[in-house]
Amino acid sequence: MNKNKKKSQSLVNFWQYFRPYKAPIVVALIFLIISQIAILAQPIFLRNIINALVSHKALGSVAILLVFYFASRLVDILFELLRDYVISPVVMGVPRDFEKDVFKRLLALPVAYHANNKTGASARAITRGSQATSFMLDFSVSSLIPPILQLIFVTVLLLNLYTWQYGVITFVTVVVYAIFTIWGTEKRNIYRERGNKQDDQAGGILVDSVTNIETVKYFNNQNILFGRFSKIKFEWFRLMVRNNRLFALIYALQGIILLTGLGSILIIAVRQATAGIITVGDLVLLSTYIVQLSIPITTLGFVYGRFKNSIIDLQAMDKILDEPVTIIEPKHPVALKKRHGSLEFDHVSFSYEPARPIIKDLDFNVKPGLKAAFVGPSGAGKSTIAKLIFRLYDVSSGSIKIDGIDVRQLSLDNLSNLVSVVPQDPALFNDTIAANIRFGKMDATDDQVIEAAKIAQIHDFITGLPNGYETPVGERGIKISGGERQRVAIARAIIRNPKILVFDEATSSLDSVNEQAVLATIDRVAIGRTSISIAHRLSTIVKSDIIFVIQKGKIVEQGTHQELLKQNKVYARLWYLQTEAHKSE
Ligand SMILES: Nc1ncnc2c1ncn2[C@@H]1O[C@H](COP(=O)(O)OP(=O)(O)O)[C@@H](O)[C@H]1O
Ligand SMILES: [Mg+2]
Repeated sequence: MNKNKKKSQSLVNFWQYFRPYKAPIVVALIFLIISQIAILAQPIFLRNIINALVSHKALGSVAILLVFYFASRLVDILFELLRDYVISPVVMGVPRDFEKDVFKRLLALPVAYHANNKTGASARAITRGSQATSFMLDFSVSSLIPPILQLIFVTVLLLNLYTWQYGVITFVTVVVYAIFTIWGTEKRNIYRERGNKQDDQAGGILVDSVTNIETVKYFNNQNILFGRFSKIKFEWFRLMVRNNRLFALIYALQGIILLTGLGSILIIAVRQATAGIITVGDLVLLSTYIVQLSIPITTLGFVYGRFKNSIIDLQAMDKILDEPVTIIEPKHPVALKKRHGSLEFDHVSFSYEPARPIIKDLDFNVKPGLKAAFVGPSGAGKSTIAKLIFRLYDVSSGSIKIDGIDVRQLSLDNLSNLVSVVPQDPALFNDTIAANIRFGKMDATDDQVIEAAKIAQIHDFITGLPNGYETPVGERGIKISGGERQRVAIARAIIRNPKILVFDEATSSLDSVNEQAVLATIDRVAIGRTSISIAHRLSTIVKSDIIFVIQKGKIVEQGTHQELLKQNKVYARLWYLQTEAHKSE
């Protein structure tokens, strides 16, 4: 755990994304240096122009200097343009590559990872992370490297042209200014972060209260909620006022630092000028440099703060790339020649968390083409059995075999073609009905989609809709009823023609009319396949060839409906309980 954290903090993953862009990065840096040199040359030409004018030189030499002056400006503009031109594919390419890999990893990560991480949080990590990448690249090129280069160049230049004071004072002033600015921004960030937290909390109360407005009114808690909101907002107000005042103070102190540096230089320069050591042109050059240097540094504090946040965002994204993919494709998958659809659990045990075993030494066998059912109380581990067949999780011990082959030896592709599931509460994609059915077999023809819909007995319903198969189903499929959704899910499951079909409480959320209809559908589609029905309502599985009664992760009874009734134990008790309840309804 600790090791993992350390690794991600070094952002190893991130840096490797620059490798393909080495050439444009080097070229852009060269262009950057050229434009910076051009910028620094301008005050020198300006100085010479002034000196030439003061000493009444011939117009010709002044004209040449003017040409140089303008030429250096043009070079600056041109190379800045070229720099941006060359760096653009990097600024956009690195986040794209990074984001692609993170999404790929998210898709590859086991269900266990997603179960433990909030939906949306990962998506936000990706968005923020890729924004951070663009930002860091963009600002490195435009706001971070240029002032540093300029500072170095100017210092060297001044040390060469004049007495040592100028170079040293300039360097020290700029460095002190930069350090102070960064320090100030850090200080303000503390207030801002705390303020943001308050703001989020206040926003949370507001949204929560309004979305639950009926509950709020039922309990007449408006005043309490408003009181909480006001209290948080007051905290926020205090922090923000402090933040703003600190900003004003920092701004003033920045000015004083600059003034001190510039003032000292001016004092020395004026003295040297009167002594005839330097010229008026030099005076202009010196003051130009120091102002020129201070402008980009003003934003340095902001850039620094953003950089720090960006690194945090990147680490969040980077962490996803470091998550281990625990469900691994076999290196040499076994190719199933003939698919029969037998399913065997060979002493399978499993736990989501080591401390709490869920499936305990489960051992059973379903022959090809038979109808098996798993019944038992909620929480017994029935859905877990389905998840294990699909390798959403791998067993802790024992093995699951399809046609005699351990599922871990099959390619994931092969496995998912063999087995299809109709989940308890099937979520559909926010797309058309046709697209949702086709999700089961991405290359299905229109005819195959219609065929699947017919088998699932949803075709007539679909064609009755004004837009037919092109009807959008809405977020998670809310625009069609539960029974319709269930049948679309059945069509999606059977379109890939699996040998084994798993129905996980496929009818439990339906009313009895819909339930009967869907059960009839299930009976039809199960012909020629092995079917595994998971249920807690026993009436839905009485016709199964074999019924397994599961309690606390173990098979406690097995047999046909009649056999189990005769045994007169758990199943029989449940049966009478449920039929009695039914009668009295
Ligand atoms: N992702 C998970 N992490 C930890 N425990 C889980 C997870 N999913 C299910 N469980 C637990 O496993 C047990 C069996 O769950 P499940 O197989 O869904 O039961 P059933 O389908 O029989 O109602 C439950 O007690 C449940 O709390
Ligand atoms: Mg379940």
